[in-house]
Amino acid sequence: MFLTGTMRINDKQRLEIGGCDTVELAEKFGTPLYVMDEVLIRENCRRYRKALAESYPLGEIFYAGKAFLVTAMAALVNEEGLGLDVVSGGELFTAIKAGFPPEQICLHGNNKSREEVLQALQYGVGRIVVDSFSELEELLFLSGKTRKRPVILLRIRPGIEAHTHNYIQTGQEDSKFGFGLQDEDTWKAIRLALQEKEKVDLRGFHCHIGSQIFHIAPFELAVDVMFGFMAEVREKTGFTASQLDLGGGLGIRYTKEDMPPSIEDFVKFISSAVKSAAVKRNFPLPQLLLEPGRSIVGEAGVTLYRVGVIKDIPGVRRYAAVDGGMADNIRPALYQAVYEAVLANKAGEEPVEKVAIAGKACESGDILIREVFLPPVKKGDLLAVFATGAYCYAMAGNYNRNPRPAVLFVRDGKANVIVRRETYEDLVRLDQPVQARGKN
Ligand code: LLP
Repeated sequence: MFLTGTMRINDKQRLEIGGCDTVELAEKFGTPLYVMDEVLIRENCRRYRKALAESYPLGEIFYAGKAFLVTAMAALVNEEGLGLDVVSGGELFTAIKAGFPPEQICLHGNNKSREEVLQALQYGVGRIVVDSFSELEELLFLSGKTRKRPVILLRIRPGIEAHTHNYIQTGQEDSKFGFGLQDEDTWKAIRLALQEKEKVDLRGFHCHIGSQIFHIAPFELAVDVMFGFMAEVREKTGFTASQLDLGGGLGIRYTKEDMPPSIEDFVKFISSAVKSAAVKRNFPLPQLLLEPGRSIVGEAGVTLYRVGVIKDIPGVRRYAAVDGGMADNIRPALYQAVYEAVLANKAGEEPVEKVAIAGKACESGDILIREVFLPPVKKGDLLAVFATGAYCYAMAGNYNRNPRPAVLFVRDGKANVIVRRETYEDLVRLDQPVQARGKN
């Protein structure tokens, strides 16, 4: 077990987060329950901002809302002075509802609908990352019509794909995102955007090489590739990019073995890679944008579950089933993601037995954790799964018609419900009433 942020084991030998006893939280708010350490989220936002201000003052941090975005989170991000990256009309709407300043919002997406683009233009979002030639054509049409002139970046595929422990570099990346480095469309798009200056304000380029990345080398490579590209653009078209957005991707600790670089080291390293690439290409320092998602919220989240059925399969394994699973955390089933957990009501006790944590979905793949060592587990125990702050609530669903859990921000001994638990009534809210049918 490793504890992050404000987590600790209290005098009752229970897990505490934000000064709140998790056993009491579960009793009061029910399970499954997402508990988010507000202090840690804020601290991560500040660490990013401070690190960038120190190493690259001409920079800005945009929180990637896809990791976890609800109204309260958007408001927090705004209070902490970060910008926000959104990828859909729904995320944009959430941000606006939270009073997020539109000029601090950046819109992404590989297949933005006309409505989404119009919505962004009408709100006056600060930046649109254009993903394809046809999107650019549509945007030109819409900006002409609405007489808005959005700032745009073009998303580039730098041919580098990074994951936790490795990365690959290919000349031509096979991905649905962005413009290929050498594609004809890329050059056509740059020329068209420059030509249609009164409709769009092309400022530079964007790339995102992956997520849950532990190594700095692929970022360094991406910086080098992007500067090479920007230098080529300058040479061929005379356009000097003034903004470079390097996306997100810094990994977090899901398990004790995970050792990502710190936020400070990551930012410092990227900043110096950008500075040296600029010198190497004799390029003026661009504004540097980063879009971290997971590394801001991931470790701040814990999911609490109530243990139900315990099943021993002799010689095979012992299953402890909990009252949630793939509906509230799809990551183990989808990516074979590995999580750590403790019994929150027995957090001070020695782990002695190996168990598998099963979810409650009618799906044999709904195993939250294949192997975890716990104190003797009993029905009614409270299981706390760590590092569920990113891509869990955001990817949650209602499979088997299970209502989605509530989300709490906890801080200084107080719990604030930022998303209430869904009810059965919520589940049928969109269903149309059954038509009365006459008997024949
Ligand atoms: N910017 C762009 C353009 C992105 O596509 C992403 C993530 C981010 C920023 C934020 O990346 P982060 O800092 O969170 O790594 N559902 C997957 C992760 C998908 C990430 C998609 N893009 C998971 O649960 O692991």
